[in-house]
Parts: sequence; structure tokens; C-alpha cells
Amino acid sequence: MAIHDLKGSLAVIAGQAKLLRAGKLGPLTEEQAGALADVVMACHQMEDKIARLLGPQAKVTEECMPVTQKADLRKCVLDTFSLLRGEFAEQGLEFELDVCASPLILPFDQAMVRQVLINLLENARHFTPRGGRVKLTLSPEFWERRSSRFRAAFDGRDTKAHTPNCAQVTITDSGCGIARENLERVFEAYYTTPAPGQMPGCGLGLAIAQRIVRAHSGKIWAESEPGVGSSFHFRLPFVPPLPEAEFAMRGPGAKEEQPA
Ligand SMILES: Nc1ncnc2c1ncn2[C@@H]1O[C@H](COP(=O)(O)OP(=O)(O)OP(=O)(O)O)[C@@H](O)[C@H]1O
Ligand SMILES: [Mg+2]
Repeated sequence: MAIHDLKGSLAVIAGQAKLLRAGKLGPLTEEQAGALADVVMACHQMEDKIARLLGPQAKVTEECMPVTQKADLRKCVLDTFSLLRGEFAEQGLEFELDVCASPLILPFDQAMVRQVLINLLENARHFTPRGGRVKLTLSPEFWERRSSRFRAAFDGRDTKAHTPNCAQVTITDSGCGIARENLERVFEAYYTTPAPGQMPGCGLGLAIAQRIVRAHSGKIWAESEPGVGSSFHFRLPFVPPLPEAEFAMRGPGAKEEQPA
């Protein structure tokens, strides 16, 4: 997991360097542009090395213990996007942001949730051909978790049926899409298919994203239509359930529940 996180950080470094090199943040001297080209090249070399390190031995089974603090998810989303926008621009992708106007304050581990966003955005970029579109949406939602045991143990905190109780992020792309029979498999560790004309990845990004979201008592899922595009959604609760309630809901063999 930790090695895979390096890929996300590298994408950020490469993205910012590409933005600078393209002169999008101000004019450059020839020497400065040359130095930035070296930074981008070094990032690509390091990506190759990480891919080799992330062989079958890589672990996604490590403990995932979020250190949560109340923070603004809206800010986290906007900051993460601005780190990667250079990569999207470089690939000629149109990017649309549809983010709620007010802050969304909830308890979450900022580094981990940023990693989820990076993994999903990197996939959208990777699997969407030049000229395509990617949209990122953030909004407050109401999430009815359909488990009577869970509701009973939820302490009456979600009884106002129409008050938002979670934040939802959706990343939609106009890429190659995923066949219906593979939609659940995409969250399995090491499940990977190459994007058209590209090298295969490690198959860890979504497995890690799922572990992080679940460790926040949230839910992540995918929808897709081959040839049209994909949407990845995740929800994080404003008030995480009590540990016993979570155990009752997810106990051994418990099935993931669909969002309302
Ligand atoms: N936006 C998307 N569009 C189409 N297919 C996708 C998308 N996101 C994920 N997939 C499919 O799910 C698989 C698993 O994704 P995941 O992010 O876990 O691994 P990866 O991208 O292949 O490698 P990496 O570990 O470098 O992220 C992908 O290989 C691809 O088959
Ligand atoms: Mg990936």
C-alpha cells in the first residue's frame, strides 16, 4: 500500500511540473523549461521502478487505520484536483468540477482520502482517451444503510430521513468503460486490464481505495457502460457508526449494502 501511494505522489509532482513547463503558471526561460523537462522524465523513470517493485509480493493486507480529524472534504477535493490538473491538461482531457458551494465538514483522514481521490482520478485519466471528458462531483447526500441491526444500533442519529448524513464523491469519465461481469472484480487486488495502447497497471489502486473508504465506514462502488464511460462513487458518513454497529453490519461474511 505504501509503495503504491508513491505512484500517486509522483503523479502529483509530474502534473505540477507539466503545468509549469507548459507555461500555464507564468513564462519560463529556456533553461527553466529544460530543468522541468528533466523533472518530468525522472518522474516517468521512477514510475517504471515503482511498477517493478509492486510485483506480486506487494501487500494490500496491511492494517488500514485512519487517523480521523474533522476537516473540510470540499477543500480536500479541490486541492487534490488542482494537484493533478496538469496531467489532465497534458492529455487533452476536458475536466468539469461540480462541487457544492459550502464546506463539507466531517471526520476523515486527509492523507488517505486524498489517496482515494488520486487513485480514482488517475484511473479516469488513464482509461479515457485524448479529447475525452472527466467530471468530479461532490455533494451532501442522505444514505440509508439498509440493515435493521445497524439502524437499531445507530443511536437515533440518522432519524431525520431527509437530512444529509454523508458526503458523496463521483468521478465520471467518457473512457473505455468496464464490462458488466468485471464491475465487481475491479476492486480485487491485482485485477488489472491495460487501457487501450498502454501498459497494464498493478491492479492495486481500487483495492486500496476500497480499504480506505471501508475503514472510514463508507462505501465505494462503480457503474459503467462499455464504450460510453464509467462512474466511481464513494460515500463517507458525517457521523461514523459506533464500532459495535459496524461489526454487526459487516460481521464475518456480511454483504456490502447498496446505497439508497
Ligand atoms: N475509469 C476506469 N475506466 C475503465 N476501467 C477502469 C477504470 N478504473 C478502473 N478500471 C479497471 O479496473 C482495473 C483495476 O483498477 P486499479 O486502479 O485497481 O488498478 P490499475 O489501474 O490497473 O493499476 P494501479 O495499481 O496502477 O492503479 C483496471 O485495470 C481497469 O481494468
Ligand atoms: Mg489504477
